[in-house]
Amino acid sequence: MRLSYSSLVLLGLAGPAIAAPKGKKGGPDTAKAKAIKETYQHSWKGYYEYAFPNDTLAPLTKSYVNDRNAWGVTAIDSLSASIVLGDAESVNQILEFVPTIDFTTTAEPGDISLFETNIRFFGGLLSAYDLLTQEPYSDLVEDKSLIESCLKQAKSLADSLKFAFDTPTGIPDPIIQLNPEPKRTGSQTNNIAEAGTLVLEWTRLSDLTNNTEYAKLAQRAEDYMLRPKPASSEPWPGLTGTHLSISNGSFTNANGGWGGYTDSFYEYLIKMYLYDPSEFEFYKERWVAAAESTMAHLASHPTTRQDITFLALYSGQNIIPSSSHLASFSGGNFILGGILLGEQKYIDFGVTLANSYYETYRATATGIGPEAFRWVASELPENSTDNKPPPAEDADFYEEAGFWATSPTYILRPETIESLYYAYRATGDAKYQEMAWEAYENIEKAARTGAAYASMKDVTVEDGGFIDKMESFWLTETLKYLYLMFDEESELQIHANKPMKWVFNTEAHPVRIR
Ligand SMILES: *[C@@H]1O[C@H](CO)[C@@H](O)[C@H](O)[C@H]1NC(C)=O
Ligand SMILES: *[C@@H]1O[C@H](CO)[C@@H](O)[C@H](O)[C@H]1NC(C)=O
Ligand SMILES: *[C@@H]1O[C@H](CO)[C@@H](O)[C@H](O)[C@H]1NC(C)=O
Ligand SMILES: *[C@@H]1O[C@H](CO)[C@@H](O)[C@H](O)[C@H]1NC(C)=O
Repeated sequence: MRLSYSSLVLLGLAGPAIAAPKGKKGGPDTAKAKAIKETYQHSWKGYYEYAFPNDTLAPLTKSYVNDRNAWGVTAIDSLSASIVLGDAESVNQILEFVPTIDFTTTAEPGDISLFETNIRFFGGLLSAYDLLTQEPYSDLVEDKSLIESCLKQAKSLADSLKFAFDTPTGIPDPIIQLNPEPKRTGSQTNNIAEAGTLVLEWTRLSDLTNNTEYAKLAQRAEDYMLRPKPASSEPWPGLTGTHLSISNGSFTNANGGWGGYTDSFYEYLIKMYLYDPSEFEFYKERWVAAAESTMAHLASHPTTRQDITFLALYSGQNIIPSSSHLASFSGGNFILGGILLGEQKYIDFGVTLANSYYETYRATATGIGPEAFRWVASELPENSTDNKPPPAEDADFYEEAGFWATSPTYILRPETIESLYYAYRATGDAKYQEMAWEAYENIEKAARTGAAYASMKDVTVEDGGFIDKMESFWLTETLKYLYLMFDEESELQIHANKPMKWVFNTEAHPVRIR
């Protein structure tokens, strides 16, 4: 039986979910790190046996799908995780595969997502190169000549993708093709997440190759998002619309938030400042503006759970009480900004978000949070257009939990655990390790099936069924953040009190800062 929130309150067990008094101090935990590494190895072996060198494991049918250009996305995306978790066997298996990929074409005609290819393949190769050119990671490698092929292949990939930027504005076409020949698909608009989550990787490649071309392409596109036009597309300072015209660079709407199609644009603003605080000072100013506006206007408390803070979406200056698993990375991003800028208020707000979004895990039958959810915002009149009550069948759940699921799937996403990792690193409080461990055990219990781990159809009920897919981010993000939470201190970890040397791209690939 799961105790409901109100029964915990009656028993006096539920502290206020948020206000964080200094708790028990956490530390590395070898046994837990080892268990997470075993989960990683089981996931990798399932993929390697039944899907490699295709893209993605279908764990239930012990088969595969080619959903990322058939370049072997799970292998390339996993490489940095194999390195960080110290799994020499898979490091060498993947490294042998790296030089064999032909990034100049695809086996079949089909669409290529610039964004997904950038964060998973390009970020993965750059990160592997940055890691493997350093001790102690280089010790994992049997054939050292393969390290250089990570950079060579990253450059080959960028060279075959770069025509995407060849548009009237330089804002890239989000979808291109290489087979039968290189072709833009002629999209009219791009969104700030897909166009604004390139700059870290393309700048890094320029730095590694002494060729400014790549950085210039990504930064030119980024400028339209840093200086949004028209003024009405920026309802509050720093918070912009979602879509931009590729032909003239103007925003075509003023809707936004911190979820899909917008999220990692904001994430990269502060991460570029970490990459190089002098060159990317203006990116930081834009992040600060967005952070201040978010705290002032988007922080929303469910009517039935005033202790919870979620981030609302917006349409112009109207907020919409709706959020997602994707948006739960925001806590970690606020904490990172607070650490870098020495601003406790951003850390505190980020910790509040990390705690609040974890409540979406605590409340469900599986102990795992749903893909998307809504609530009734205390900040808006009840029953106003965007603030309708829950459907009757969700009313009781909303009463206790403060949200109801609008999409109940879980596709092995990392973001909620990622924010718990930042909360732990910023506060040292063991309770964030405990929360992450609880989430890990729940996922182990519910999603381990077939050849490895499968996505779940409905986290709000026990045994809600599976979706036959293991996304590559399960290995490289979800399990990497979990592992780092319990791993020894290292240069790679987020540090609250000393300079950092690595920045994680949005797919959790650690990239060496400038
Ligand atoms: C996918 O796997 C199948 C079966 O192992 C193999 O025949 C095929 O060549 C693989 N596809 C790619 C793109 O490597
Ligand atoms: C880039 O330039 C630096 C300093 O000028 C040099 O040390 C390095 O070897 C160069 N790298 C490449 C890939 O040309
Ligand atoms: C920019 O292009 C879009 C179509 O992509 C169009 O709707 C809009 O009016 C244009 N804006 C300006 C300022 O030309
Ligand atoms: C909101 O609407 C519902 C159903 O239309 C109604 O039962 C409820 O009383 C309304 N609440 C308020 C505060 O108006």
